[in-house]
Amino acid sequence: MAVNKLEHIAIIMDGNGRWAQTRSHARVWGHIRGSKIVSNIVEEADDLGVRALTLYAFSTENWSRPVTEVSVLFKLLKKFLIKERKRVLKNNIQFKVMGDTSKLPEKTKEIIADLENDSANNTGLKLTFAFGYGGRDEIVHATNRFIKENPGKEITEELLQSYLLLPELGDVDLLIRTGGDQRISNFLLWQSAYAELYFTETQWPDFKKEEFRKIYEFVSLRERRFGNISSSDLQNSKKKAIENKEIITNF
Ligand code: FPP
Repeated sequence: MAVNKLEHIAIIMDGNGRWAQTRSHARVWGHIRGSKIVSNIVEEADDLGVRALTLYAFSTENWSRPVTEVSVLFKLLKKFLIKERKRVLKNNIQFKVMGDTSKLPEKTKEIIADLENDSANNTGLKLTFAFGYGGRDEIVHATNRFIKENPGKEITEELLQSYLLLPELGDVDLLIRTGGDQRISNFLLWQSAYAELYFTETQWPDFKKEEFRKIYEFVSLRERRFGNISSSDLQNSKKKAIENKEIITNF
């Protein structure tokens, strides 16, 4: 059976709030617990030989959450970067943030910029946090930037792709969402056009390396056709070319 190489994995880390509420804690407790397992999943992605891992940490829509929740998420990002900096650099990981970070505290912006710069030449896993990110927003910005820089020129898929926030990440091969809901929530809309989708009931704070590896292995065996037909069907249809011709002429 064919095994797909899943090079770019994107994860919607959902279920933190519900995880905390079912344990009679405030929603933010779920984010705190959720932030503690991020590095395990990064480590596992690295071990699996994944090229890029993109994590949805804060969406453009998350701005409408209570101020305290938003500020906890900001703090968790800062804490994570301080705590994980050494490990990122030691493991040859290239770290980036994609999205609008303009409303983050200045210190956090500095920490992000430092880690982005210091890891820029790393050649291992491309680890990206989508923060202040929205897929539609990204496409609108890319289109506007293209129009400004190329007045009167017709846009193509390749050109639009090259104007996205981090074109080097390429298409998403596998999009995982934890927490039981089955939707994409404005995450990497362009890049996920042919992504394999996997939804798990597990809430993010309970998501373990083992489940991540199982999902990876399971999806690796899925047949990806990208709008084509399977290679065995393609072979068969070539063999049956004469029969096919007859069907078409008599149709
Ligand atoms: C969705 O859970 C999750 C988020 C909005 C943020 C994801 C953030 C983390 C995993 C922690 C931050 C970590 C770092 C390192 C930045 P939800 O609150 O929508 O959960 P619910 O669907 O149960 O309400």
